[in-house]
Amino acid sequence: MSVPVPKGKLPLPQLVELKHRGEKIVMVTAYDAPGARFAEDAGIDIVLVGDTAAMVMLGHEGTTVPVTMDEMLFLTRTVVRAARRPIVVGDMPFGSYQVSDEAAVENAIRFFKEAGADAVKLEGAGPSLSRVRAIVGAGIPVMGHVGLTPQSATMLGGFKTQGKTAAAAERLVEDALALEQAGCFAVVLEAVPSPVAAEITRRLEVPTIGIGAGPDCDGQVLVYHDLLGLSEGHLPRFVKRYANLSREIRDALEAYAQDVRTGTFPDEEQHTYEMPAEELEGFEMTMRRPSASRASDQARSASPRPANTQLPAPRSEPPLRKTSSP
Ligand code: KIV
Repeated sequence: MSVPVPKGKLPLPQLVELKHRGEKIVMVTAYDAPGARFAEDAGIDIVLVGDTAAMVMLGHEGTTVPVTMDEMLFLTRTVVRAARRPIVVGDMPFGSYQVSDEAAVENAIRFFKEAGADAVKLEGAGPSLSRVRAIVGAGIPVMGHVGLTPQSATMLGGFKTQGKTAAAAERLVEDALALEQAGCFAVVLEAVPSPVAAEITRRLEVPTIGIGAGPDCDGQVLVYHDLLGLSEGHLPRFVKRYANLSREIRDALEAYAQDVRTGTFPDEEQHTYEMPAEELEGFEMTMRRPSASRASDQARSASPRPANTQLPAPRSEPPLRKTSSP
């Protein structure tokens, strides 16, 4: 079902208003123009060009770390061209903000200026807090991300739920509050027990966007390929599949291959072009004339050819198909 979409970019401050009104914020990832257009047409509020691109688009297995700034900028540009209403957030890849505040600001500016993103997202609190302050100080909105932060999955002991002990849960609350203090306009909570996410959501002025963080967050995000059934293999338990597109794509490609091999496609009537009968007749007559008198052969023999060019073997001339045009 397509939702009527108001014109113009969703203003960032409206996210807080949505939170205060208790209206849920909808975010999805996208990595190309068609995905962004579908998100726009569905009335999605925020499109995240996630560094999950490493896995779902670029074929890296089980890690977001390898995706580069240049790859992220390329993907973000394609999304920005098609997503007019949703806020487009560019996900800062590993290595683009860890080194220093200066490097973080430079790379955030590239997302903003070269790719046209409306905001950037980065992972973690702790050392990331001064990065957030620096980027926000440069005038670029920042979305935070705590809980399971895939860029540091190795340090976290894998892709695991975070905040499961009372002490870890308390640290998560502090981290989320610190990100808000640093200037984040929203905070993603990933793989966090629902009561912890609910508490963070109550304490923060800015919206929380949950992924595997229960129903009480101010909004939800899912990875495009996961929700559409384009991802195959193991999926986290928090994913809900709304379609099985990989099955559909496989079936369609198999049917196409079968049609080509059996000669069922292209269909003579529907998928091919005709020419006026008299032109076809003239063409056929020309093709039957001895080759030396054909204009095309004369032109070919007049043009110089590199010494080592192989000529195609002479072909027997099959009958041209008949046309049905008058
Ligand atoms: O990169 C990504 O797709 C994300 C979401 C899972 C929040 O960070």
